[in-house]
Amino acid sequence: MQLNILTLPGDGIGIEVTREAVRVLHRVCDKYKHTASLSEALLGGIAIHKTGGPFPAETEKRALEADATLMGAVGLPEFDNWPPEKRPERGLLGIRKSLGVFANLRPVRSYPALLDSSPLKNHLIDGVDLIIVRELNSGIYYGTPRGIEGEGKSARGFNTMSYTWDEIDRVTRMSFELARKRRKKLTSVDKSNVLETSQLWRCVVVEVAKDYPDVELDHLLVDNAAMQLVLNPKRFDVMVMENMFGDIISDEGAVLAGSIGMLPSASIGGKRPSGAWVGLYEPVHGSAPDIAGQNKANPLGAIGSVAAMLEYSFGLTEEAAAVNKAMETVLNSGRVTADLRPKGTPATTEEVGKAVCEAI
Ligand code: IPM
Ligand code: MG
Repeated sequence: MQLNILTLPGDGIGIEVTREAVRVLHRVCDKYKHTASLSEALLGGIAIHKTGGPFPAETEKRALEADATLMGAVGLPEFDNWPPEKRPERGLLGIRKSLGVFANLRPVRSYPALLDSSPLKNHLIDGVDLIIVRELNSGIYYGTPRGIEGEGKSARGFNTMSYTWDEIDRVTRMSFELARKRRKKLTSVDKSNVLETSQLWRCVVVEVAKDYPDVELDHLLVDNAAMQLVLNPKRFDVMVMENMFGDIISDEGAVLAGSIGMLPSASIGGKRPSGAWVGLYEPVHGSAPDIAGQNKANPLGAIGSVAAMLEYSFGLTEEAAAVNKAMETVLNSGRVTADLRPKGTPATTEEVGKAVCEAI
């Protein structure tokens, strides 16, 4: 198979983890006789430095042409005081929207070798295997009006959380389909005791559920969901929620996995102008400027995102399983990066990437 992939390493540790993810991709392609044709483009802070904006038109064009896009991370401290519309993060929001990838799948599982890497008690997390489906194209991240009006102490900042029926419907269906292939349990997370968007959310979910009688559905308020996720994470199979709730809850989920560096993600659901499906794959972690360029970052979130790409964009399930299995072999060997608090000397980003390749 010919795989045309665009990489967007972005900023900070995005660059080094993407390098390892690409190494693993080449190894899989070698082994299974696929041809990967990779090209790289700019997104985020590096794009601001080189082109003046976080999401250059050239990047958008090439992402729309590629079969799939692999992203690293965006964000640089020098832009911390810039307004949201100019920041590196806006590049990421831009590409998510432009590709139309409305469902962001963030799987969280506990690996036996990492039980002690999590601050939570082993018995709570042993066996955790859940997927957070985060709505990715709407909600408060994109709603208008938004802005800051007035100045100084009379200033007022405002954002809009909005959802249409269709936006909720499509991500809910995607989540039910996923649940159907797993343990057939879906938890919808909202704040319907306070927010109108959540009231509509719940109403649509209940309506869609009529088409999936074989899947057990429950609803949790987001504050309670945050608590249940650490009290009893094994109760969850698939969770679906709006954009910002998903952003927050997925970082909490990272604690179950041992480190946010472990979490991959797949953003799917979008279609190219030609009608072909398109996917965007990115680790859940950010650009971590504090450790950038030091060969310390955990590349497994990025490598897991390659596995997700092989599976969702190319249907290469055997290849995806080989990557996941190799990651587990490396975890069992104990040669892991500092975030996972290994007993001996921590491995470097590059060592972990190479070890995964060897295990494949
Ligand atoms: C994530 C990140 C991004 C988000 C940032 C970098 C804009 O936190 O993917 O979870 O908020 O979506
Ligand atoms: Mg986040």
